[in-house]
Amino acid sequence: MTPSTTPAAVTLRAAIVGTGAVAHLHAQALAADPRIDLVAVSNRNASRRTAFADTYDVRGRYATHAELLAAETLDLVILCTPPDLHREQTLDAFAAGVNVLCEKPPALSLAELDDMQSAADASGLAFAIVFQQRTGTAAAHVKRLLDTGALGRPLLAQCQTLWLRQDDYYAVDWRGTWDGEGGGTTLGHGIHQMDLLAHLLGDWAEVDARVWRLARDIEMEDASTAVIRFANGVVATAVSSVLSPRETSYVRLDTELATVEVEHLYGHSGDSWRITPARGVGEEQVASWAFPSQDEPSGHEPLVRAVVDALVAGTPMPDLVTHARRPLELVTAIYASATHRRPVTPTSLDTDARFRTSLRADITDLRPGTAVPTPT
Ligand SMILES: NC(=O)c1ccc[n+]([C@@H]2O[C@H](COP(=O)([O-])OP(=O)(O)OC[C@H]3O[C@@H](n4cnc5c(N)ncnc54)[C@H](O)[C@@H]3O)[C@@H](O)[C@H]2O)c1
Repeated sequence: MTPSTTPAAVTLRAAIVGTGAVAHLHAQALAADPRIDLVAVSNRNASRRTAFADTYDVRGRYATHAELLAAETLDLVILCTPPDLHREQTLDAFAAGVNVLCEKPPALSLAELDDMQSAADASGLAFAIVFQQRTGTAAAHVKRLLDTGALGRPLLAQCQTLWLRQDDYYAVDWRGTWDGEGGGTTLGHGIHQMDLLAHLLGDWAEVDARVWRLARDIEMEDASTAVIRFANGVVATAVSSVLSPRETSYVRLDTELATVEVEHLYGHSGDSWRITPARGVGEEQVASWAFPSQDEPSGHEPLVRAVVDALVAGTPMPDLVTHARRPLELVTAIYASATHRRPVTPTSLDTDARFRTSLRADITDLRPGTAVPTPT
C-alpha cells in the first residue's frame, strides 16, 4: 500500500536499537516507506549488530544506544530491546531530541511508563508504542461499526492468547525472569489481544484475575485467567497461556445485533474476521457491515507508516500508536488482583504502591511436586 502522504523531498532518518528478532519487522517496514531511511543500528552484541546492518545495508553501527544518539542526527529511534531497557533508552532519546517508537511492552511498570510519558510531554517529542494488533483495515472497520453503534450495544467478550513457548524460548537470557521480562505470558503475549479488545471497547472498570504456573520452569506465570468489566458495561474473559499446543489468538465480541470474531496467530487480515448476525437482523443491515474490499493486514508496516505520516505532517501521533497505558493497566490489574485475591478497579490500582513499580505477583504454582497454597 502506498503511504498516505508522499512528499518526495521528505526523507526522515531512523535508527533501531536492539537488532534481535522483532527488529527485522521494523527494518522491513522502514524499507517499504520511501519517506524514511534506516541510517543506524545499535546492539551490544557485535556479531548480531554486523549481521543485521549488513542485511539491511545500514551505515551507522554502534555498540550502545548512547553512542548512537551522540553520533547521529535522527528523527526517530525504534526501541527493539528487552523491556527492562525501554525506560532508560526512551528518556535518553528524548534528552537527545529524538522521537521514540517503542516495542511492547512499553515498560516494566506503570511508574516507568509514566516517567516516559512525562519526558515525552516535557520535550514535545512523539512517544509511540507498538501494539500492532490494532492495525489493519478489518480492525479499523470493526472499530468504526462499534463506535457508530451499527452493531448495537456490545455485551460480552472473550479474549484468548493461547500460545506455546517451550524451553528454547526461555533460553534467551532476559526471558523467564521478573527482572528481564517484567512479567509472564500475560505481559509478554496476552497484552496484544487485550490491547486489541480495549482498542475496540475503551476503558476498563474492574479486573478479577488469577495467575498460574502449571508447567514451565520460569519465575513468572505460564497462564492467567481474568474477568474484565469494561466501563461501557461489556464483560470479558481473558485467558493467556504459553502451554497451548493448538495455538490461537482469538477475540470474540457479542453485541445486541451480531457476534464479531477474529482468529489468527500473530497477525490478522480481512479473512481472519467474521461477523455473524443475530436472528432477525435484516439483509440490508448485514450488508452494511461488509468488510472493505481493499484489505491491508495488521502488522508493523501500517503501524510504522502511521508514525511516519504523523512525523511528516507534524501532527500528534494517532490512537493507533498511543494509549499505551491502558493495556499495561489491564496487565498490572491482573497481577494485582491475583495477588490480593480481590477485584481491582482503576482507582484501587492507582493507589497500589506494590504494583505501581513492579508486576512481581504471587503465582499459584500447580506444577507436580509443588505445594498448592491453601486459599486464605
Ligand atoms: N510486537 C511484536 O509482535 C513483538 C514480537 C517480538 C518481540 N517484541 C518485543 O520486542 C522487544 C525485543 O524482543 P525480541 O524478541 O526482538 O528480543 P531479542 O532478544 O531477539 O532481541 C533483543 C536484542 O537487543 C539486544 N540488546 C540487549 N541489550 C542491548 C543494549 N543495551 N543496547 C542495544 N542492544 C541491546 C540484544 O543483543 C538482542 O539482539 C521486547 O520488548 C519484546 O516484547 C514484540
